[in-house]
Amino acid sequence: MSFETIIYEAKNNIGYITINRPKALNALNAEVLNELSQAVDIAEKDEAARVVIITGAGGRAFVAGADIAAMQNMTAEEAYSFARLAQIIYNKIQDMPKIVIAAIDGFALGGGCELALACDIRIASAKSKIGIPEVTLGVFPGFAGTQRLPRLVGTGIAKEMLATARKVPADEAKAIGLVNHVVEENPMAKAEELAVEICKNSMSAIALGKRAMNEGMEMELKKGIEHEAALFAVAFTTEDQREGMTAFLEKRPANFQ
Ligand code: CAA
Repeated sequence: MSFETIIYEAKNNIGYITINRPKALNALNAEVLNELSQAVDIAEKDEAARVVIITGAGGRAFVAGADIAAMQNMTAEEAYSFARLAQIIYNKIQDMPKIVIAAIDGFALGGGCELALACDIRIASAKSKIGIPEVTLGVFPGFAGTQRLPRLVGTGIAKEMLATARKVPADEAKAIGLVNHVVEENPMAKAEELAVEICKNSMSAIALGKRAMNEGMEMELKKGIEHEAALFAVAFTTEDQREGMTAFLEKRPANFQ
């Protein structure tokens, strides 16, 4: 399915969302964000997509940030609405009951870094640079970067990235836990390799485990642990639990739904 600035397709159990505005290094304006929102909804419902990969077209950038030209003359009210539009989409990505992988080939800056942070797993090519350079523009990250980045890499590193605006090279991004894997080139191939591994497992169990982690991270530890038990119990209401355990005991591969 093709919009103006986003391409969505599903094949081999993977839903691909490609941000396709390469002339502006895939910068996010309201049109891109609205189409991204629709593509995320489609991917979530699409039974042909068991894992979702988000990437950027053109080979130079994942996303180079929110569109600076579109923001230049925004009023405070418009800036608030623009930030909320992106934040709500990014929250949908975080909450999707499927694993979402960011395949980063080039710049992931500002709103692009923040999009990658909303995904579950990040893969970057060696040439990639990831950062939140908004303070060079007189603003700061407004697509949830001030919230997700410190949760992922810790406040010390996040504040340094905020204040220096430095574009962190891929190998360093890996060392600080900002990306899961760095590959010489073709992060899509690595993302697909992970997707194939993920697809062998129970989708319902992955969804429940992802939810337990997401929701538990916002709770006090012992509440999170209790919440885990409640969701663990839900896993025992699924066909996949019966199939997975029966298959193990019958010494055969599980055939999950
Ligand atoms: N918004 C709008 N246009 C952008 C853009 C952005 N974020 N990033 C790149 N572009 C456009 C450029 O204006 C240029 O367009 P033209 O060809 O029409 O001039 C085109 O993409 C190619 O970019 P460059 O010529 O600048 O390419 P380069 O290789 O010299 O530099 C770059 C690449 C270092 C990524 C540089 O483009 C850059 O610094 N981009 C801006 C990065 C940034 O500051 N991002 C944060 C945006 S603010 C934000 O995201 C707020 C938030 O939290 C939500």
